[in-house]
Amino acid sequence: MIKLTDDISIQKLTFSDQPELLELMREIYIPSYQHIWSDTGEWYLEQMYNPEAFRQDLEDPKSHYYFVLYEGWKIGILKYSYPESPALIDFPNSLKLHRIYISKEYQGKGIAARIMKMVESVARERNLNYMWLEVMDTQLQAQKFYRKMGFEWLFTYHLDYKKLLPKYRGIQILRKSLT
Ligand SMILES: CC(C)(COP(=O)(O)OP(=O)(O)OC[C@H]1O[C@@H](n2cnc3c(N)ncnc32)[C@H](O)[C@@H]1OP(=O)(O)O)[C@@H](O)C(=O)NCCC(=O)NCCS
Repeated sequence: MIKLTDDISIQKLTFSDQPELLELMREIYIPSYQHIWSDTGEWYLEQMYNPEAFRQDLEDPKSHYYFVLYEGWKIGILKYSYPESPALIDFPNSLKLHRIYISKEYQGKGIAARIMKMVESVARERNLNYMWLEVMDTQLQAQKFYRKMGFEWLFTYHLDYKKLLPKYRGIQILRKSLT
C-alpha cells in the first residue's frame, strides 16, 4: 500500500484481485460508457478484465496496476506503463497512462488529480520526456480533467471495435511534455 494523503492510497493488484477488479469496473465503467456500446459495454469489460488479459497485464514488466483507495475503500483503479510509445506515432522515453477510473460518488474530490501528481513524479524521477494517454472524442468529462492536468491534443484516430457505436469511434491521443 502506498499512502498519498491521509485519505488516498493505492494498492498494487495481484492475480487474486481479478474478480473484485471486474466487479468494481462493472460499477464504474457501465454508467459512464454504456451509451457508446451496442451491448452496454459488457463485451469490452470482458475483453479488458478477464483472467487471462489480467494475467498478461500483471506479467508485463512495464506495467503498474493499482486499486485506488479512499478512506480504505476501493473506489477506483490506476494503470500506467513505461517506457511505452503510441503505435501510430513514435515519441520515445514516455509513460502511457492506460487507465484512471474513479467511482462516481467519489468524483470531484481531487482524487484523480492527486494520483496524476504521483504518476507525473514517477515519470520525472525516471527522466521520461512525456506522459500520454488515449481518450474518447466524446468523453468530455475525462477530456476536461486531462486538459486541466496539462495534457494537449496530438492527434485523433478511429477504433474499429464492432460493438462500439460508429459515432463514438473517435479517439484522441493527448500528451504532456515533462521537459
Ligand atoms: C475523469 C476522472 C478520472 C476524474 O476524476 P476525479 O477524481 O473526479 O477528478 P478530480 O476531482 O481530481 O478533478 C481534477 C480537475 O479535473 C477537472 N474535472 C474533473 N471532473 C470534471 C467534470 N466532470 N467536469 C469538468 N471538469 C472536471 C476539474 O478541473 C477538476 O479540478 P477542480 O475541481 O479544481 O475544478 C473521473 O471523473 C472518472 O473516473 N470518470 C469516469 C471514467 C473515465 O472517463 N476515466 C478516464 C478514462 S479515459
